[in-house]
Amino acid sequence: MTILVSGGAGFIGGNFVLDWLDHFDEAVINLDKLTYAGNLETLKRLNGNNRHVFVHGDIGDRDLINNLLAMHKPRAVINFAAESHVDRSIHGPGEFIQTNVVGTFNLLESVRGYWDGLPGGEKQAFRFLHVSTDEVYGTLSRDDAPFNELNRYEPNSPYSASKAASDHLVRAWHHTYGLPVLTTNCSNNYGPYHFPEKLIPLVILNALAGKSLPIYGDGQQIRDWLYVRDHCSAIRRVLQSGKVGETYNVGGWNEKPNLDVVHTICSILDELRPKVSGGRYKDQITFVKDRPGHDRRYAIDARKLERELGWKPEETFETGIRKTVEWYLANQDWVRNVTSGAYREWVGRQYEVQL
Ligand code: NAD
Ligand code: DAU
Repeated sequence: MTILVSGGAGFIGGNFVLDWLDHFDEAVINLDKLTYAGNLETLKRLNGNNRHVFVHGDIGDRDLINNLLAMHKPRAVINFAAESHVDRSIHGPGEFIQTNVVGTFNLLESVRGYWDGLPGGEKQAFRFLHVSTDEVYGTLSRDDAPFNELNRYEPNSPYSASKAASDHLVRAWHHTYGLPVLTTNCSNNYGPYHFPEKLIPLVILNALAGKSLPIYGDGQQIRDWLYVRDHCSAIRRVLQSGKVGETYNVGGWNEKPNLDVVHTICSILDELRPKVSGGRYKDQITFVKDRPGHDRRYAIDARKLERELGWKPEETFETGIRKTVEWYLANQDWVRNVTSGAYREWVGRQYEVQL
């Protein structure tokens, strides 16, 4: 048996592939375009593992996907591939439409052709699992209830709009063609192998480098943080037992204002890697211009997943963030490898005026 994973050299996909191969004997075909966010360094410990087949390619390349499906005959496809950074979607939305919308459409069409041709039992058992985000639901005010699966879609950024579009395509391919799909909508992830354009790894690395820790606006925006390996276990659970056509919200009940998250990271670093020059890491905090259209609060109601499929996260924010800081301290080689010229160019462009 085999599964096909797209975007498996990225942050969540990479963690998913590593965890999968630690848990199961089943092989993984890992298709990734290796954009700036895809790093084979993340998969280094799989070198020589014949249960992992890496294929460099685009989810929008139908010939390639058709050939891969025909050759490997996966029993499931899990779609992580996406452009994922909100700030980048504001600077250049085109790639987000291309991969997240057009790419997902092409992938769905290839998978539909393959699934149509499967013999009875295999056709019935096949699953297409689409990995999506809580950002499709828009923003909450402080007193609103967390997002559940019945909330309206109200995406506010080019990124979230492109993910919302992809979710709608997945839904339609089920209702119209009967494709056996599952969708997960997860809150903010953090943990090992997180590309340092996102808040948590950016703050850890900037702190260690003696640079400013940029807080957008007043820093009181709230995100609901989930340790990445808990997200991976939720996806495995949904793949195994989820009801076809359903969506499942995934979250850790860990709502935190951004400024609190940054203070927590600074305190852990003060303890684990005190500044040689003296002083505290929090002194590096700098308030910068806000993100345009910045969503104020996300929060996930994950009770459906718990009630129907028995899933719960293992990490609290306190245990997960400590593990994450320790991981970055212990894995400076990975950091050096991913902070290439392209990364430095992005950071220069994004923070040029502010830092
Ligand atoms: P990421 O940016 O770290 O990784 C994306 C991966 O997809 C990269 O390896 C990249 O090379 C690959 N990719 C991009 N375009 C591709 C294409 N056209 N064809 C094939 N591969 C392509 O993203 P991530 O944070 O790991 O997110 C993975 C998925 O989970 C995304 O769909 C994202 O929307 C969703 N998600 C992310 C979070 C989060 O907090 N990071 C939370 C909820 C949902
Ligand atoms: O909610 C799930 C989403 O979480 C995923 O769908 C996205 O792919 C993922 O990137 C993430 O989106 P966010 O925009 O919430 O993550 P980011 O790490 O970019 O920002 C987290 C918060 O921190 C957000 O309120 C913006 C703020 N921020 C971010 C950066 C990079 C800062 O204050 N300063 C920064 O330098």
